Amino acid sequence: MKRDFLTGEELGAFELGKLLDRALELKAGRRDGAGAGELAGRSVALVFEKPSTRTRISFEVGVAELGATPIVLRGDELQVSRGESVGDTARVLSRYLDAIVIRSGSHEAVAELAAAADVPVVNALTPLHHPCQALADLLTLRERFGDLAGLRLAYVGDGNNVARSLAIAGGLAGMEVAIAAPPGYQLEEGHGAKLTDDPRAAAAGADAIYTDVWVSMGDEEEAERRRSDLAPFRVDAELLSVAKDGAAVLHCLPAHPGEEIAAELLYGDSSAVWDQAENRLHTQKALLAMLLDS
Ligand code: CP
Ligand code: NVA
Repeated sequence: MKRDFLTGEELGAFELGKLLDRALELKAGRRDGAGAGELAGRSVALVFEKPSTRTRISFEVGVAELGATPIVLRGDELQVSRGESVGDTARVLSRYLDAIVIRSGSHEAVAELAAAADVPVVNALTPLHHPCQALADLLTLRERFGDLAGLRLAYVGDGNNVARSLAIAGGLAGMEVAIAAPPGYQLEEGHGAKLTDDPRAAAAGADAIYTDVWVSMGDEEEAERRRSDLAPFRVDAELLSVAKDGAAVLHCLPAHPGEEIAAELLYGDSSAVWDQAENRLHTQKALLAMLLDS
């Protein structure tokens, strides 16, 4: 039975721990060839219907380091852009490939692709979920703080795809996730996170403060209104001062220093942002190895 990774809810807590263990092994042994050849002879499509720096490059490098062949495709290169159905695309790709990684502007289209594909489908970001990012974020927190259970993470800003995936993955890892967003930008209930419209209440005593862009891909038309509504939710030194001593600052990138995050935090000693970006590579290698294990 093939397994997809669309929301993060497909993983159990034990399995998530194992995946992070494996990612740490792959990271530590990277220059000694850890994982090299593990997926030899396999092929993985990387479909990007939206821009990407980290996800695209970390997946392409990761697939190659595992010995498999990455095939990078833009959405407009496929016949689906000319009306071929998502289902037919999935059925055909399944005859060539061992997995499909896809970034799309429609979560429903990715779910439809996964339902029709015979091979694992990995969500590389939709407007609803960014589960691969959350895996890297948890690995980064584990490296900084050790055990994830009981860690307090405050997400401050837009209750978006990144916030939702953090709530899901953080909950699975036994973390306490609080999400502060203004009215109209709140995450829906049901993911186990504590929801508030008060950034200081979320950040008080937190082990880590996380933020993401105020204007996600697809939200460009609302940019002006979003910048004004979200301005009180900027992550800055004042907000960090109410968190625990030694608290980490996280951001999935791309960042807009001076907008959702103060430059002094992004580039300061508390920043775990560059480790997060690196850890995309290691966690995604562990994920693909797990999904393609047979
Ligand atoms: N964080 C993240 O997914 O970055 P990219 O959009 O560059 O892939
Ligand atoms: N929330 C952002 C994340 C980018 C990695 C977006 O969807 O554009």
